[in-house]
Amino acid sequence: MIDSYGRNINYLRISVTDLCNLRCRYCMPEEGIEKIQHYEILRLEEIYKLAKIFVSLGVNKIRITGGEPLVRKGIINLIENISDLEGIKDFAITTNGILLKKYARDLKNAGLNRVNISLDTLDKKKYYDITRGGCLKNVLEGIEEARKVGLAPVKLNTVLVGGFNDSEIESFINLTKNEKIDIRFIELMPIGHTKDWSLDRFISSKAILDKFKELKAITKEDVSSPADYYKLPDGKGRIGFISPISCKFCKNCNRVRLTADGKVKNCLLSNDEMDLRPALRNGEDLKKIIVGLIKNKPKEHDLEDGKYIERNMAAIGG
Ligand code: GTP
Ligand code: 5AD
Ligand code: SF4
Repeated sequence: MIDSYGRNINYLRISVTDLCNLRCRYCMPEEGIEKIQHYEILRLEEIYKLAKIFVSLGVNKIRITGGEPLVRKGIINLIENISDLEGIKDFAITTNGILLKKYARDLKNAGLNRVNISLDTLDKKKYYDITRGGCLKNVLEGIEEARKVGLAPVKLNTVLVGGFNDSEIESFINLTKNEKIDIRFIELMPIGHTKDWSLDRFISSKAILDKFKELKAITKEDVSSPADYYKLPDGKGRIGFISPISCKFCKNCNRVRLTADGKVKNCLLSNDEMDLRPALRNGEDLKKIIVGLIKNKPKEHDLEDGKYIERNMAAIGG
Protein backbone atom coordinates (compact mmCIF):
# COMPACT_ATOMS: atom_id res chain seq x y z
CA MET A 1 0.00 0.00 0.00
CA ILE A 2 1.40 3.36 -1.02
CA ASP A 3 0.14 6.43 0.83
CA SER A 4 -0.34 9.95 -0.54
CA TYR A 5 3.29 10.83 0.17
CA GLY A 6 4.75 7.82 -1.65
CA ARG A 7 5.53 5.84 1.52
CA ASN A 8 5.14 2.08 1.35
CA ILE A 9 2.99 0.99 4.29
CA ASN A 10 4.17 -2.54 5.00
CA TYR A 11 4.24 -2.67 8.83
CA LEU A 12 1.12 -3.42 10.87
CA ARG A 13 1.08 -3.07 14.66
CA ILE A 14 -1.81 -4.94 16.20
CA SER A 15 -2.82 -4.10 19.77
CA VAL A 16 -4.63 -7.20 21.02
CA THR A 17 -5.73 -5.77 24.36
CA ASP A 18 -5.63 -2.53 26.31
CA LEU A 19 -5.36 -4.45 29.58
CA CYS A 20 -2.05 -4.79 31.35
CA ASN A 21 -0.60 -6.56 34.36
CA LEU A 22 1.43 -3.43 35.22
CA ARG A 23 0.53 0.26 35.67
CA CYS A 24 3.54 2.13 34.30
CA ARG A 25 3.30 5.76 35.33
CA TYR A 26 3.83 7.17 31.81
CA CYS A 27 1.45 4.73 30.17
CA MET A 28 -1.57 4.17 32.42
CA PRO A 29 -3.35 6.13 35.13
CA GLU A 30 -3.16 4.50 38.57
CA GLU A 31 -6.77 3.38 38.54
CA GLY A 32 -6.24 1.65 35.19
CA ILE A 33 -8.26 2.65 32.17
CA GLU A 34 -11.95 2.62 31.49
CA LYS A 35 -12.87 -0.91 30.59
CA ILE A 36 -13.92 -1.34 26.99
CA GLN A 37 -17.16 -3.33 26.67
CA HIS A 38 -16.64 -6.95 25.69
CA TYR A 39 -18.45 -6.61 22.35
CA GLU A 40 -16.21 -3.67 21.40
CA ILE A 41 -13.03 -5.75 21.56
CA LEU A 42 -12.19 -7.57 18.37
CA ARG A 43 -12.42 -11.33 18.68
CA LEU A 44 -9.26 -13.25 17.84
CA GLU A 45 -10.82 -14.51 14.60
CA GLU A 46 -11.58 -10.91 13.65
CA ILE A 47 -8.01 -9.84 14.32
CA TYR A 48 -6.78 -12.74 12.22
CA LYS A 49 -9.12 -11.84 9.38
CA LEU A 50 -7.88 -8.25 9.37
CA ALA A 51 -4.24 -9.34 9.57
CA LYS A 52 -4.80 -11.58 6.56
CA ILE A 53 -6.30 -8.70 4.58
CA PHE A 54 -3.45 -6.35 5.49
CA VAL A 55 -0.93 -9.01 4.43
CA SER A 56 -2.75 -9.47 1.12
CA LEU A 57 -2.34 -5.71 0.64
CA GLY A 58 1.43 -5.84 1.05
CA VAL A 59 2.09 -5.82 4.80
CA ASN A 60 5.13 -8.02 5.47
CA LYS A 61 5.98 -7.03 9.03
CA ILE A 62 3.60 -7.51 11.95
CA ARG A 63 4.07 -6.62 15.59
CA ILE A 64 1.70 -7.70 18.34
CA THR A 65 1.32 -5.14 21.12
CA GLY A 66 -1.05 -4.31 23.99
CA GLY A 67 -1.55 -3.11 26.79
CA GLU A 68 0.31 -6.28 27.57
CA PRO A 69 -0.30 -8.75 24.73
CA LEU A 70 0.56 -11.84 26.78
CA VAL A 71 -2.44 -11.31 29.08
CA ARG A 72 -4.87 -11.84 26.19
CA LYS A 73 -6.38 -15.34 26.32
CA GLY A 74 -5.63 -17.36 23.17
CA ILE A 75 -2.69 -15.16 22.17
CA ILE A 76 -0.41 -18.09 21.31
CA ASN A 77 -3.05 -19.47 19.01
CA LEU A 78 -3.46 -16.14 17.25
CA ILE A 79 0.30 -15.88 16.80
CA GLU A 80 0.42 -19.37 15.37
CA ASN A 81 -2.28 -18.51 12.83
CA ILE A 82 -0.76 -15.20 11.82
CA SER A 83 2.71 -16.68 11.45
CA ASP A 84 1.29 -19.12 8.87
CA LEU A 85 0.25 -16.25 6.61
CA GLU A 86 2.20 -16.27 3.38
CA GLY A 87 4.35 -13.14 2.95
CA ILE A 88 5.31 -12.18 6.51
CA LYS A 89 9.04 -11.55 6.76
CA ASP A 90 9.21 -10.17 10.29
CA PHE A 91 6.86 -11.14 13.11
CA ALA A 92 7.49 -9.69 16.56
CA ILE A 93 5.90 -8.75 19.84
CA THR A 94 6.37 -5.84 22.25
CA THR A 95 5.88 -6.97 25.84
CA ASN A 96 6.69 -5.87 29.38
CA GLY A 97 8.35 -9.27 29.82
CA ILE A 98 6.60 -10.22 33.06
CA LEU A 99 5.06 -13.35 31.51
CA LEU A 100 7.87 -14.06 29.10
CA LYS A 101 9.56 -16.75 31.10
CA LYS A 102 6.34 -18.70 30.92
CA TYR A 103 5.55 -18.04 27.25
CA ALA A 104 8.86 -17.56 25.39
CA ARG A 105 9.11 -21.15 24.19
CA ASP A 106 5.46 -21.26 23.13
CA LEU A 107 5.91 -18.00 21.24
CA LYS A 108 8.95 -19.34 19.43
CA ASN A 109 7.18 -22.59 18.59
CA ALA A 110 4.17 -20.62 17.36
CA GLY A 111 6.38 -18.95 14.76
CA LEU A 112 7.22 -15.60 16.34
CA ASN A 113 10.66 -14.27 15.32
CA ARG A 114 11.57 -11.86 18.08
CA VAL A 115 10.62 -9.73 21.09
CA ASN A 116 11.05 -6.14 22.21
CA ILE A 117 10.85 -5.76 25.96
CA SER A 118 10.05 -2.59 27.91
CA LEU A 119 12.51 -2.04 30.74
CA ASP A 120 13.01 1.41 32.20
CA THR A 121 15.31 0.68 35.13
CA LEU A 122 17.71 -1.98 36.38
CA ASP A 123 16.92 -1.17 40.00
CA LYS A 124 14.43 -3.43 41.75
CA LYS A 125 12.86 -0.67 43.87
CA LYS A 126 12.63 1.81 41.02
CA TYR A 127 11.07 -0.85 38.83
CA TYR A 128 8.44 -1.51 41.47
CA ASP A 129 7.82 2.22 41.66
CA ILE A 130 7.53 3.11 37.97
CA THR A 131 5.41 0.05 37.15
CA ARG A 132 3.37 0.51 40.36
CA GLY A 133 4.01 -2.99 41.66
CA GLY A 134 6.05 -4.94 39.08
CA CYS A 135 8.83 -7.38 39.93
CA LEU A 136 12.10 -6.78 38.07
CA LYS A 137 13.25 -10.38 38.56
CA ASN A 138 10.36 -11.65 36.42
CA VAL A 139 11.42 -9.45 33.51
CA LEU A 140 15.10 -10.35 33.79
CA GLU A 141 14.20 -14.04 33.77
CA GLY A 142 11.90 -13.39 30.81
CA ILE A 143 14.74 -11.74 28.89
CA GLU A 144 17.02 -14.70 29.59
CA GLU A 145 14.38 -17.18 28.47
CA ALA A 146 13.70 -15.23 25.27
CA ARG A 147 17.39 -15.30 24.42
CA LYS A 148 17.66 -18.97 25.32
CA VAL A 149 14.86 -20.04 22.97
CA GLY A 150 16.21 -17.84 20.15
CA LEU A 151 13.67 -15.03 19.99
CA ALA A 152 16.44 -12.85 18.61
CA PRO A 153 17.49 -10.12 18.47
CA VAL A 154 16.13 -9.15 21.88
CA LYS A 155 15.65 -5.37 22.09
CA LEU A 156 15.06 -3.51 25.32
CA ASN A 157 12.96 -0.33 25.18
CA THR A 158 13.78 2.28 27.81
CA VAL A 159 11.64 5.40 28.04
CA LEU A 160 13.81 8.15 29.47
CA VAL A 161 12.22 10.05 32.32
CA GLY A 162 14.23 12.94 33.78
CA GLY A 163 14.95 12.54 37.49
CA PHE A 164 14.00 8.88 37.35
CA ASN A 165 16.30 6.84 35.15
CA ASP A 166 18.77 9.36 33.69
CA SER A 167 21.29 8.19 36.27
CA GLU A 168 21.14 4.69 34.77
CA ILE A 169 21.86 5.54 31.14
CA GLU A 170 25.47 4.42 31.45
CA SER A 171 24.48 1.09 33.01
CA PHE A 172 22.06 0.45 30.17
CA ILE A 173 24.68 1.33 27.57
CA ASN A 174 27.17 -0.98 29.28
CA LEU A 175 24.78 -3.93 28.91
CA THR A 176 25.72 -3.92 25.21
CA LYS A 177 29.43 -4.30 25.93
CA ASN A 178 29.52 -8.04 26.29
CA GLU A 179 26.04 -9.15 25.34
CA LYS A 180 24.42 -9.25 21.93
CA ILE A 181 21.44 -7.27 23.10
CA ASP A 182 20.00 -3.99 21.80
CA ILE A 183 18.96 -1.21 24.09
CA ARG A 184 16.86 1.64 22.76
CA PHE A 185 16.23 4.92 24.51
CA ILE A 186 12.82 6.42 23.74
CA GLU A 187 11.93 10.08 24.14
CA LEU A 188 8.97 10.58 26.43
CA MET A 189 5.85 11.53 24.45
CA PRO A 190 2.82 13.56 25.61
CA ILE A 191 0.36 10.73 25.34
CA GLY A 192 -2.79 10.32 27.44
CA HIS A 193 -2.45 11.41 31.08
CA THR A 194 1.35 11.70 30.64
CA LYS A 195 0.84 15.03 28.88
CA ASP A 196 0.78 16.82 32.24
CA TRP A 197 4.38 16.06 33.11
CA SER A 198 6.13 14.75 29.97
CA LEU A 199 7.58 18.16 29.07
CA ASP A 200 9.16 18.68 32.50
CA ARG A 201 10.74 15.23 32.46
CA PHE A 202 11.80 15.20 28.82
CA ILE A 203 15.35 14.12 27.93
CA SER A 204 16.40 14.40 24.30
CA SER A 205 18.46 11.78 22.53
CA LYS A 206 20.95 14.49 21.66
CA ALA A 207 21.63 15.19 25.33
CA ILE A 208 22.78 11.58 25.76
CA LEU A 209 24.83 11.53 22.59
CA ASP A 210 26.57 14.73 23.69
CA LYS A 211 27.50 13.05 26.94
CA PHE A 212 28.57 9.63 25.62
CA LYS A 213 30.94 10.67 22.86
CA GLU A 214 32.42 7.19 22.55
CA LEU A 215 29.23 5.95 20.85
CA LYS A 216 29.75 5.45 17.11
CA ALA A 217 26.87 5.71 14.66
CA ILE A 218 26.21 2.63 12.57
CA THR A 219 24.35 2.35 9.28
CA LYS A 220 20.65 1.67 9.53
CA GLU A 221 19.69 -1.76 8.22
CA ASP A 222 16.10 -0.66 7.86
CA VAL A 223 15.51 2.98 6.92
CA SER A 224 11.94 2.76 8.21
CA SER A 225 13.01 1.83 11.73
CA PRO A 226 12.26 4.60 14.22
CA ALA A 227 15.64 4.00 15.89
CA ASP A 228 19.07 5.37 14.97
CA TYR A 229 21.70 2.91 16.09
CA TYR A 230 25.12 3.32 17.71
CA LYS A 231 27.74 1.04 19.20
CA LEU A 232 30.36 1.13 21.88
CA PRO A 233 33.86 0.50 20.51
CA ASP A 234 34.01 -3.34 20.49
CA GLY A 235 30.50 -3.53 21.91
CA LYS A 236 28.50 -6.63 20.98
CA GLY A 237 25.04 -5.08 21.12
CA ARG A 238 23.62 -1.85 19.77
CA ILE A 239 22.31 1.33 21.38
CA GLY A 240 19.31 2.82 19.61
CA PHE A 241 17.70 6.23 19.94
CA ILE A 242 14.02 6.70 19.17
CA SER A 243 13.51 10.46 18.93
CA PRO A 244 9.96 11.22 17.80
CA ILE A 245 10.00 14.61 19.52
CA SER A 246 13.44 16.04 18.82
CA CYS A 247 13.98 14.48 15.42
CA LYS A 248 10.89 13.41 13.52
CA PHE A 249 11.23 10.23 11.50
CA CYS A 250 7.87 10.58 9.76
CA LYS A 251 9.22 10.81 6.25
CA ASN A 252 10.27 7.16 6.41
CA CYS A 253 7.19 5.95 8.30
CA ASN A 254 5.92 2.59 7.07
CA ARG A 255 3.44 1.92 9.92
CA VAL A 256 -0.25 1.54 10.49
CA ARG A 257 -1.85 0.54 13.78
CA LEU A 258 -4.91 -1.49 14.67
CA THR A 259 -6.32 -1.02 18.17
CA ALA A 260 -7.99 -3.73 20.24
CA ASP A 261 -11.38 -2.11 19.60
CA GLY A 262 -10.92 -2.15 15.86
CA LYS A 263 -9.74 1.39 15.10
CA VAL A 264 -7.09 2.05 12.51
CA LYS A 265 -4.54 4.65 13.52
CA ASN A 266 -2.46 5.95 10.65
CA CYS A 267 -0.21 7.86 13.02
CA LEU A 268 0.69 7.25 16.66
CA LEU A 269 0.91 10.98 17.26
CA SER A 270 -2.43 11.98 15.78
CA ASN A 271 -5.86 11.78 17.38
CA ASP A 272 -7.44 10.64 14.13
CA GLU A 273 -8.72 7.08 14.04
CA MET A 274 -11.05 5.16 11.77
CA ASP A 275 -13.41 2.51 13.07
CA LEU A 276 -13.15 -0.71 11.04
CA ARG A 277 -15.43 -2.71 13.34
CA PRO A 278 -18.79 -1.87 11.76
CA ALA A 279 -17.51 -2.67 8.27
CA LEU A 280 -15.89 -5.85 9.55
CA ARG A 281 -19.07 -7.02 11.26
CA ASN A 282 -21.32 -5.98 8.35
CA GLY A 283 -19.26 -7.97 5.86
CA GLU A 284 -18.23 -4.95 3.78
CA ASP A 285 -15.32 -4.85 1.33
CA LEU A 286 -12.50 -4.30 3.82
CA LYS A 287 -9.71 -4.28 1.25
CA LYS A 288 -11.16 -1.27 -0.47
CA ILE A 289 -11.81 0.50 2.81
CA ILE A 290 -8.28 -0.08 4.11
CA VAL A 291 -6.63 1.09 0.89
CA GLY A 292 -8.77 4.25 1.15
CA LEU A 293 -7.82 4.79 4.81
CA ILE A 294 -4.12 4.58 4.09
CA LYS A 295 -4.45 7.49 1.66
CA ASN A 296 -5.34 9.67 4.66
CA LYS A 297 -2.10 8.97 6.48
CA PRO A 298 -0.73 12.36 7.53
CA LYS A 299 2.57 13.61 6.23
CA GLU A 300 3.95 14.02 9.74
CA HIS A 301 2.92 14.64 13.32
CA ASP A 302 2.47 18.16 14.62
CA LEU A 303 3.03 17.91 18.35
CA GLU A 304 5.15 21.05 18.28
CA ASP A 305 2.19 23.30 19.07
CA GLY A 306 1.58 21.83 22.52
CA LYS A 307 -0.88 19.28 21.20
CA TYR A 308 -1.12 15.89 22.91
CA ILE A 309 -2.62 12.50 22.22
CA GLU A 310 -5.86 11.73 24.04
CA ARG A 311 -5.73 7.93 24.07
CA ASN A 312 -3.50 6.44 26.74
CA MET A 313 -0.52 4.59 25.33
CA ALA A 314 -1.89 1.34 26.77
CA ALA A 315 -4.77 1.60 24.32
CA ILE A 316 -2.46 2.13 21.35
CA GLY A 317 0.47 -0.18 21.97
CA GLY A 318 3.38 2.13 21.26
P1 GTP B 1 11.59 -2.78 15.60
O1 GTP B 1 10.81 -3.44 14.56
O2 GTP B 1 12.34 -3.75 16.45
O3 GTP B 1 12.43 -1.62 15.15
O4 GTP B 1 10.52 -2.20 16.65
P2 GTP B 1 9.68 -0.90 16.70
O5 GTP B 1 10.52 0.21 17.20
O6 GTP B 1 8.95 -0.68 15.43
O7 GTP B 1 8.58 -1.32 17.81
P3 GTP B 1 8.49 -1.08 19.36
O8 GTP B 1 7.15 -1.54 19.79
O9 GTP B 1 9.65 -1.67 20.07
O10 GTP B 1 8.54 0.50 19.44
C1 GTP B 1 9.31 1.17 20.35
C2 GTP B 1 8.74 2.50 20.63
O11 GTP B 1 9.10 3.41 19.62
C3 GTP B 1 7.22 2.58 20.65
O12 GTP B 1 6.71 2.15 21.84
C4 GTP B 1 7.01 4.04 20.49
O13 GTP B 1 7.25 4.65 21.70
C5 GTP B 1 8.11 4.37 19.49
N1 GTP B 1 7.58 4.30 18.14
C6 GTP B 1 7.48 3.20 17.37
N2 GTP B 1 6.92 3.51 16.19
C7 GTP B 1 6.67 4.83 16.24
C8 GTP B 1 6.07 5.74 15.34
O14 GTP B 1 5.66 5.40 14.26
N3 GTP B 1 5.97 7.03 15.75
C9 GTP B 1 6.40 7.45 16.94
N4 GTP B 1 6.26 8.72 17.25
N5 GTP B 1 6.96 6.61 17.83
C10 GTP B 1 7.08 5.33 17.49
N1 5AD C 1 6.35 8.03 25.67
C1 5AD C 1 7.24 7.20 25.08
N2 5AD C 1 7.14 5.86 25.06
C2 5AD C 1 6.11 5.32 25.71
N3 5AD C 1 5.75 4.03 25.89
C3 5AD C 1 4.61 4.02 26.60
N4 5AD C 1 4.21 5.27 26.90
C4 5AD C 1 5.15 6.11 26.37
C5 5AD C 1 5.29 7.53 26.32
N5 5AD C 1 4.42 8.35 26.90
C6 5AD C 1 6.49 2.87 25.37
C7 5AD C 1 6.74 1.76 26.38
C8 5AD C 1 6.80 0.54 25.52
C9 5AD C 1 5.95 0.87 24.35
C10 5AD C 1 4.71 0.05 24.27
O1 5AD C 1 5.63 2.24 24.45
O2 5AD C 1 7.92 1.85 27.06
O3 5AD C 1 8.10 0.22 25.10
FE1 SF4 D 1 4.57 7.66 11.61
FE2 SF4 D 1 3.01 9.24 12.96
FE3 SF4 D 1 5.07 8.06 14.11
FE4 SF4 D 1 5.40 10.05 12.36
S1 SF4 D 1 4.48 10.17 14.35
S2 SF4 D 1 6.57 8.18 12.45
S3 SF4 D 1 3.75 9.60 10.91
S4 SF4 D 1 3.26 7.06 13.25
